Amino acid sequence: MDLGWGNQKASKFITNVGLITSTGKNGQDIMGAEWTYYVSWGPALINVHIADVAKMRGGAGKATLENIRETMEFGVNVAAEDQNAFSSIAGGSSGHDVDKIAVLKEMGAKFFNAKKIKAPMLEGAALHAECKVRQIEDMGDHVMVVGEVLEIESHDAIMPLAYSAGKYYRLGEQLHKPEQAVLDKISALVEKHRKHK
Ligand SMILES: Cc1cc2nc3c(=O)[nH]c(=O)nc-3n(C[C@H](O)[C@H](O)[C@H](O)COP(=O)(O)O)c2cc1C
Repeated sequence: MDLGWGNQKASKFITNVGLITSTGKNGQDIMGAEWTYYVSWGPALINVHIADVAKMRGGAGKATLENIRETMEFGVNVAAEDQNAFSSIAGGSSGHDVDKIAVLKEMGAKFFNAKKIKAPMLEGAALHAECKVRQIEDMGDHVMVVGEVLEIESHDAIMPLAYSAGKYYRLGEQLHKPEQAVLDKISALVEKHRKHK
């Protein structure tokens, strides 16, 4: 089936926002990508799924994807809970048309040089990962970019921004374990239904 963009039925996923930095023929660029996630510990791999607009609508593809195909590297900056406006800027226009890095700098963002890649990294993000591309695959109407992590830093005091159904959220109350009676009941039920006794 084809759900199409923004379908409410697919609105129950909660994601991070990866602010994906790149450089290349479109200059330095940054895009928002909620479909950014960690998929392997060893080797450490992070996937980013980028809409293949060139295939979907013709014309130019996303500037980030073009940069990544050229340089085979990218930066992952997991947006912090106070970076929702930065996320909207990174996701609100294309690096083909707008120098979003310059816009962000004028909005107070600071960038620093990565250690292993040429793309700039965004200060204040909850996590920074420098990635080299290991694989690029068509995945439906998106392109899956698999990045091998070369450097990673995460910041305990900085909470990541949450995103769901097109809205930003701050992570809220932590849920605690059920009370002991419930835990005991769960243990008893697991024993009762264990397949190999
Ligand atoms: C919060 C947010 C999340 C987004 N997630 C994605 C995503 O996962 N994949 C994608 O292709 N585009 C996503 N976008 C849209 C891109 O960020 C947008 O198309 C951007 O203009 C691409 O920039 P570029 O052409 O400079 O690469 C998202 C936008 C926002 C605001």
